[in-house]
This record gives sequence, structure tokens and C-alpha cells, in this order.
Amino acid sequence: MTFLFNSDAKRGAIFAKAFSRELPEIPFATDPAAVDPETVRYLITWTLPEDLSRYNNLEILFSVGAGVDQFRIDAVPPHAQVVRMVEDGITRMMQEYVTLAVLALHRNLPAYLERQRCENWQAIAPVQAAERRVGVLGLGMLGTAVLDRLMPFGFPLSGWSRSPHEIEGVRCLTGRNGLDALLVSTDILICLLPLTDETRSLLNAQLFARLPAGAALVHVGRGPQLDHQALLQALDSGHLSGAVIDVTDPEPLPPGHPFWGHPKILLTPHIASVTQPETAANAVIENIKRHRSGLKPFGLVDRRRGY
Ligand code: NDP
Ligand code: OXD
Repeated sequence: MTFLFNSDAKRGAIFAKAFSRELPEIPFATDPAAVDPETVRYLITWTLPEDLSRYNNLEILFSVGAGVDQFRIDAVPPHAQVVRMVEDGITRMMQEYVTLAVLALHRNLPAYLERQRCENWQAIAPVQAAERRVGVLGLGMLGTAVLDRLMPFGFPLSGWSRSPHEIEGVRCLTGRNGLDALLVSTDILICLLPLTDETRSLLNAQLFARLPAGAALVHVGRGPQLDHQALLQALDSGHLSGAVIDVTDPEPLPPGHPFWGHPKILLTPHIASVTQPETAANAVIENIKRHRSGLKPFGLVDRRRGY
């Protein structure tokens, strides 16, 4: 029985140390060429290896990240479970990033950066947090953690998911009507949805048109959920006031893409949240222990839903 680690060497060394301490009975390998594929029961990777079908006895395919859209799930043998990364480091970093983005938009930071460049010492009338409505698309591990972190600021909070949720202090909505209800009453919209057929291109011209004038976007889901032209039109027409964008399609953006220099866009290179090897190793080890005791791993992906 082997655990095969297919990611960068620095993270691998941290995983190897944790495995030798917590699961010494499972051989830990980092070189696929040096292992007998029949022995590989667990594989962690960001993208699917070309030769995945070699691993006839694979029991769990772990994603290095929280998302699994980079896998073609139907290419994963049906006998293997697909498990996304559920670990404290990712959650904490996403809370930090989204809080930073929401506060930057709430306090008009993009406009003030522009004014600074023009040597313009002019204030913008402040809006109080109680008047700034925040809506989160996706109420999973990250969406709920972000709402929890935003709560003390006093923003009115709403969230949207596929199935019904109950979160104290958050208006929770589902379905198309729920999405409409959230959009018309959201000043800062945060996308924390997984990429699936249903969420691809969701952030489009129709969706932006339903947001109130002056609303802003924080996009931390996946690049293909956002229609770039639609966002540019909504910003340039003045309907949207700003956007914080961490994920794009493609990544990286090509030279000269209008997002790079747009005065209303704060752009970061997909760094909202990064898997932290120490906490990730512990999470994977715990999941292997759960699996070996017949329990469901945390973050088990539902293949039909695609997340
Ligand atoms: P989860 O699987 O825990 O949560 C996903 C949420 O989205 C759930 O609430 C789910 O609803 C909801 N959802 C999915 N499809 C739909 C739909 N069609 N309509 C309405 N709601 C839907 O995921 P995480 O919170 O862990 O992560 C979310 C995404 O964040 C990842 O998939 C990844 O793309 C992105 N991410 C980005 C990072 C970055 O650095 N920018 C880092 C990490 C993740 P329900 O609860 O009903 O199932
Ligand atoms: C992830 C990511 O999915 O970094 O973890 O985007």
C-alpha cells in the first residue's frame, strides 16, 4: 500500500515528515517511476496524471486544492473516491482575502488609489456598514467561513447555495428566485462557487444588470465563471463601481488584457488562498485514517454534482 505525492518537492518534504510520524505503515513516494502502480492506494495531485489508469487499486484521489474542476472527474476510475482539500490554512487565507476585498470596496479603495495618482485630495461620502449589503454565492466550507469573518463588521449578509442552509445572521437563499432576490439586494457580491456546468459563465451581463447601481464584485471562485467583457461593460458604463478579481480565464492573463490597468479593478494572481502543507498533511492523514476505519473522508466529492 503506497501514498503517492505528486506535487512540489517543498510541500512533499513536509508531507513525508507528517506521514512518517502519523502513518509509518504506509510507504510514502514522490517519484511515480519508482513505485509499482499496483501498490498505489492514495494519490495526491493538482492535475490528473496522464497515466492515471495505471493505478488499478487507487482508493482515494486527493486534490491538492479545495477545487476539483481541474480534474476531468469522469476520467477518474469509478472505484476511486475523489476528495478535495479541506484544511484550516485554505479557509483562514480565504477569510483574510475576502475581508480585505470587501473592506477595500466598502471604503472605496480603488477610487482613492486613482485619486492619489491624480493628486486629488477629495473625499467620497462614506456609506456605513449597516447600509452595505454583502451577498455570497456559495455556502460551502469557504463561503460560510467568510460570512463568519464578515459578521462582526455589521454588514447585512445574504448567501446563496444549491440546497437550503441555515446560518444565524445570514439570509440564506436557494434556486433561481433566491439568486434574483440576493442580487437585487446586494452591494458587494462575492463568488465562492465551484466551477461546474451550472456555474460556468454565471457572472454575466444579465447577472450584473440585476445588481443595484454602484454594486461591486469580488471573484474568488474560478475564472470561467466570469464573462470578462460583461464585467468591463458593467464597470465602464458606471453600473458597477469596482471589482476585486483573483481568478481569470486564462491564467495568467495575456499582456495588454484590459483587467491589468483598469482603474476599477484590483487584480491578484490566484492567491486568495493557498494550501498550507502542514495543515494539509494533517487533513489528508486524518482522511486516510477515517477511510481505513470505514468512515467517509471530509471533502468527499459528489461525482454527479461535480463538487
Ligand atoms: P464547497 O464544495 O464546500 O461549497 C460549494 C458551495 O457552492 C456549496 O454551498 C454549494 O451548495 C454551492 N453551489 C455549488 N453549485 C451551485 C449551484 N449550481 N447553485 C447554487 N449553489 C451552488 O466548496 P468550497 O467552499 O470549499 O470552495 C468553493 C470554491 O472556491 C472552490 O471550488 C474553488 O473553485 C474556489 N477556491 C478558490 C481559491 C482561490 O485561491 N481563489 C482557493 C480555494 C478555493 P450546497 O451547499 O447546497 O451544496
Ligand atoms: C484551490 C485553489 O482550489 O487554490 O485550492 O484555487
